[in-house]
Amino acid sequence: MKQQKRIAMFGGTFNPIHNAHINLALAFIKKLKLDKLLLIPTGVPPHKTDLDIIYGEHRLNMCRLAVQDYKKIEVSDIEVKRGGKSYTADTLRQLKEIYPDSEFFVIMGADMYMTLDTWHEPDTIFSLATVCTVPRNNDELEQLNAKESEYSKRGCKTIILDLKKSDISATKIRKTVFNDGVITKYVDPKVEKYIYANYLYMNKAVINYERFDKVLKARMGEKRYIHSVNVATEAKRLATKYGADVEKARLAGILHDIAKETPADEQLKIIQRAYIKLNDVESQSPKLWHAIAGAAFVRYFMGIEDEDVFNAIRYHTSGRANMSLLEKCIFIADFTGAERDYDGVDEMRALANQSLEDAMTYGLSFSISDLAKRRLAIDPNSLACYNEMVLKAAANNKKTSNNEKNTK
Ligand SMILES: [Fe+2]
Ligand SMILES: [Fe+2]
Repeated sequence: MKQQKRIAMFGGTFNPIHNAHINLALAFIKKLKLDKLLLIPTGVPPHKTDLDIIYGEHRLNMCRLAVQDYKKIEVSDIEVKRGGKSYTADTLRQLKEIYPDSEFFVIMGADMYMTLDTWHEPDTIFSLATVCTVPRNNDELEQLNAKESEYSKRGCKTIILDLKKSDISATKIRKTVFNDGVITKYVDPKVEKYIYANYLYMNKAVINYERFDKVLKARMGEKRYIHSVNVATEAKRLATKYGADVEKARLAGILHDIAKETPADEQLKIIQRAYIKLNDVESQSPKLWHAIAGAAFVRYFMGIEDEDVFNAIRYHTSGRANMSLLEKCIFIADFTGAERDYDGVDEMRALANQSLEDAMTYGLSFSISDLAKRRLAIDPNSLACYNEMVLKAAANNKKTSNNEKNTK
């Protein structure tokens, strides 16, 4: 006779998934001799009213990262995909269809267990699975035991596992991140990195450069991180010299390449989510996307709403007509940061110390001729910027020579 597979569903918001969830899953795998444990993040959970439940996509991704090393644990997206409120009875019915010859267990928190009889279709749950839980403290163990005898009268099989208590909670983790604390002890390193890379649970009202460092390191390699630090330093120097806002220069400088190592399809997704319309050349030139996606990420995901900072990041590669002082500082700092060593960098640095416009013209002619040589399209923003600089310089030259003539 074919042996029945033993499968447990472990549902929750997993906002975020942490080490206590994994320990609990592993304990039940051992205790129940499970073949498979399905970790199922909820859609909008019926028992929570919190509005801070982040996109299902992020919670799913974090679960997937956290279980990578455990063969018997799988992450299922059925509740997130189904959307709306997630009812355990619906999920169990769906799982029965996917795994028809299996014995089912449902793992839930003690608070959920205590109120199970008030849930949507409790008898369906009782008839389809054994319900499992763990007490959070000794008092609760007694309450659970009392509830167990009540449930058994209704024909429900339950298992209460008295595990070592943990003081980790998702609420505590979210609070710690919000207060810029350290969560290394509570979550898998891959989950910690994901939280920083996606700027989850952060206090968006507070600018914190140490936090930005962590975010950048989670999103890019060492070389690009050093480049970002150098651009911030150089942007601050230029802003001081030319009278732009120094703090904004630091901010835009450190964050300007935040989306540079993001995969192209992700960059496009961020741009679309921010409802930014690309021009013809932009949509055909993936190299330009990181600046646009970066600006969108900084504004919409990190909550930094300053228009000038947005534009400085948005146009740091292409330039555009009528750039602000800050935009010019970031554009140039990207060419003259300390680690830059291309042919012509010395001239670019010398020009940056003479005039922002001359340095802009030099930088633009450099990138425009490089694109032309490679038969690549040139962004009309770059051409508009270049023309503006060149025409301004020509007009200034004319004025100077007229003045010279008049004084002779
Ligand atoms: Fe860039
Ligand atoms: Fe850059």
